[in-house]
Amino acid sequence: MLRLSSFPMQAYRAAILRFDPSLGSHHAAVYEPDGLLLVGPDAQGRQRVQAVGAWHDLAPLYPDVPVTHFKDRLIAPGFVDLHVHYPQTDVIGSPAEGLLPWLENYTFPEETRFKDPAYSAQAAAFFIDELLRNGVTTALSFATSHPESVNALFQQAQAQQMRLMTGLCLMDRHAPADLLNQPSAPGRQDATEQSLIDSEALLQQWHGQGRLGYAITPRFAPTSSAAQLRGAGELAARYPDVWIQSHVAENKDEITWARALFPESSSYLATYADFGLMRERAIYAHCIHFDDADRALMRQTGAAAAVSPTSNLFLGSGFFDYAGADRVGYRYGLASDVGGGTSFSPFHTMLGAYYVAREGQTKHGLSLSPQHLWWQHTAGAAQALGLEGCVGNLQVGCEADFVVLNPQATPLLARRTARANSLDELLFALIVLGDDRVVERTVISQALGVKPD
Ligand code: GUN
Ligand code: ZN
Repeated sequence: MLRLSSFPMQAYRAAILRFDPSLGSHHAAVYEPDGLLLVGPDAQGRQRVQAVGAWHDLAPLYPDVPVTHFKDRLIAPGFVDLHVHYPQTDVIGSPAEGLLPWLENYTFPEETRFKDPAYSAQAAAFFIDELLRNGVTTALSFATSHPESVNALFQQAQAQQMRLMTGLCLMDRHAPADLLNQPSAPGRQDATEQSLIDSEALLQQWHGQGRLGYAITPRFAPTSSAAQLRGAGELAARYPDVWIQSHVAENKDEITWARALFPESSSYLATYADFGLMRERAIYAHCIHFDDADRALMRQTGAAAAVSPTSNLFLGSGFFDYAGADRVGYRYGLASDVGGGTSFSPFHTMLGAYYVAREGQTKHGLSLSPQHLWWQHTAGAAQALGLEGCVGNLQVGCEADFVVLNPQATPLLARRTARANSLDELLFALIVLGDDRVVERTVISQALGVKPD
């Protein structure tokens, strides 16, 4: 990873991709074939985009700023992963008949190991490196039900100054004993209460520290009691700027289970609303088996869907309905959902989204444009998180997180991108053929201390 030097302003010359919400269609990309990105500290010393545009227009305005020239490369916003599980890094590719046996046979046993702080620390370090190697600069991640796992991930993200949100996984029933939230002392009956106390303590310790954020994290309705969901909703009401993350409507067996446990709610999704867990900054993974009442609830509350295509294809969960989401008009963005998801690479996730959305001869759908796919994993995902204008884009004022992509990274990519006659053709070639080899550098905005006079 390249670290920005302590020089007050730096400029990067390359082709530049960004999104300009003022241009009408929010997911139409702006492409500058020979661009300049100027980065410099704000009043707090945080590196932000100070100017962006054509090199020949901007370079004369900043004659003293050193320029790094990434010849034949593409600078693009760092990717935003809306939903991922760091403790499932070593579960990727574990086959199962569906979600529930996959959780029981692979995922829950692996997650029990995160009670050990040393195990958590090495997994968190690997995970953060892997995100950065793949060009992901912002992530909303699950940890496990052990506070040790939350501390380990925050510590690693803080060391890299990465923008990351996580929180204690709330689960007080229907899972192995070692994975349930623990009481304050062995033999005590207060595990649910303790899980909420622990959540609030972690929130107070980490939320707003540098670029870290806390996410209230009920795993999904079937593994929480009503008391735990109620407590999580009360916590969310007391801290309106923290995130909420959970799962919903991924798998038909899961839905049947959730409906049986919370029959008084009008739908599985509505269960979360009934406990005060739907609002802006609430991110629900999957959102596949929705009707229009669910979609309207998403829109009305400002909650957003983390669309997780490689996971949904791998676990056979179904296909996110893009046409339904756009018809009703609620927010969504892309997520790897590792380890149900099969890859950390945003290129693989964008290609998965293209497959999932696709109109086909046995399925209705949409053919998503490459610009729309890219937006879903950058500016669109940032908007879903309530971080529009902060990350996921290279507009003036954004934190300076970006990737330097090599469209010639493999022999096949070099041949294919040489023939690209439009931005869509270039982006499609990268989405279909790209992976971590394309990501030459990942640059994370650093805080350099207070700007000198
Ligand atoms: N639902 C509840 N927990 C999980 C999980 O870990 N992964 C996925 N894909 N769905 C879930
Ligand atoms: Zn998940």
